[in-house]
Amino acid sequence: MSTLLIRHIKSLVQAETSFRPFVKGAEMARLPVLDDAFLLVKDQLIHSFGPMSDCPDTADVTIDATGRMVFPAWCDSHTHIVFAASREEEFVSRIRGLSYEEIARQGGGILNSARRLQAASEEQLLEGAWQRLQEVIGYGTGAIEIKSGYGLTLDSELKMLRVIRRLREISPIPIKATFLGAHAVPTEYQARRQDYIALIIREMLPAVVEEHLADYCDVFCDKGFFTVEETAQILQAAAGYGLKAKIHANELGYTGGVQAGIAAGAISVDHLEYTGEAEIAALLDSSTLPTLLPSCAFFLGIPYAPARRMIDAGLPVVLATDYNPGSSPSGRMSLVVALACIKMKMLPEEAIQAATINGARAMELEASYGSIAPGKVANLFITKPMPSIAYLPYAFGSDLTETIILNGKIWGGPDSNK
Ligand code: NIG
Ligand code: FE
Repeated sequence: MSTLLIRHIKSLVQAETSFRPFVKGAEMARLPVLDDAFLLVKDQLIHSFGPMSDCPDTADVTIDATGRMVFPAWCDSHTHIVFAASREEEFVSRIRGLSYEEIARQGGGILNSARRLQAASEEQLLEGAWQRLQEVIGYGTGAIEIKSGYGLTLDSELKMLRVIRRLREISPIPIKATFLGAHAVPTEYQARRQDYIALIIREMLPAVVEEHLADYCDVFCDKGFFTVEETAQILQAAAGYGLKAKIHANELGYTGGVQAGIAAGAISVDHLEYTGEAEIAALLDSSTLPTLLPSCAFFLGIPYAPARRMIDAGLPVVLATDYNPGSSPSGRMSLVVALACIKMKMLPEEAIQAATINGARAMELEASYGSIAPGKVANLFITKPMPSIAYLPYAFGSDLTETIILNGKIWGGPDSNK
């Protein structure tokens, strides 16, 4: 047994004495914090914490955290980090006035990423995705979900999902895999959309399930992508194979996507930039989590999801990065937390809970990740010296992560875990 002791912690953030699977509504602002604390880790698990007056004398490794805070690692429940190439030429086109949807209609966007991914080898994709995974671990992410959806053929969707499986084998943090064959309709199917949906249902889904390559099934249910009826068809087929839904909805309009996800029993409906009272009422009547992606709204210049109204209505808001080459080329959770505060008027406490325990719940990992609690996996980070918790989103451009601890051990930087 090896022990790691962190002493003189200025604030131990999200330190729970009783299990909370997620937090919603007014409870989101009640962030459990213990000041002047110690934290003891045994092997890979959190063992105990308490006031410095009760601090154990010795441990195998001791860290003095004077002036610093300890946070549970971020739980990023929505990413697309397997891709072949960046898309900054589309970024420039948008600066020149084209919209995300216009670029997509001209064969750019997701279809552009699909062409590049289809031409890349599994090894090349693994190398790029591994670098991105290391990058986000360096930002303090300690659990992540990764989607397919840039393959759009049977072979390339399987190739992407196999890359995610290989990442999972070498990753120091847990990874959930989501099958997103219904990310866009490939050009050759545009006059016969139903044939592509049949391909997803009859060929892709059975092959994905046969190889146990996915935990969830996603659909981009939105204007210009998949309709509510098509989404229901795909999610129903996925449910038949035991795959739960986690979908993209209401990014581009009031499409009924949120309600379609809820009807399918989705774990989460993600994006929600276009959310009105009907969507909020439907969410309140369900166990589906609303996941908001403010760095996508920031990057594309689209409206931000109404987080404030959602929380005030009593919902459990989740925050994630949506790290992908088209709509959010950043995987920095601390920036997402800052944008949630600055642009969506979430309180720092609410944003931190949305990015930790609620993110864990959106990956069904809340029993082992997402907070500082005895028995949970010790994935956490120690900050640089900080005056207060609110300083983290306030200093939105600073990297305040000083030491990363994964599975109870100090993380040695990129490639130390390969
Ligand atoms: O979550 N909205 C759909 N899918 C991704 C973007 C994909 C892309 O543009 O490559 C998203 O924003
Ligand atoms: Fe996405």
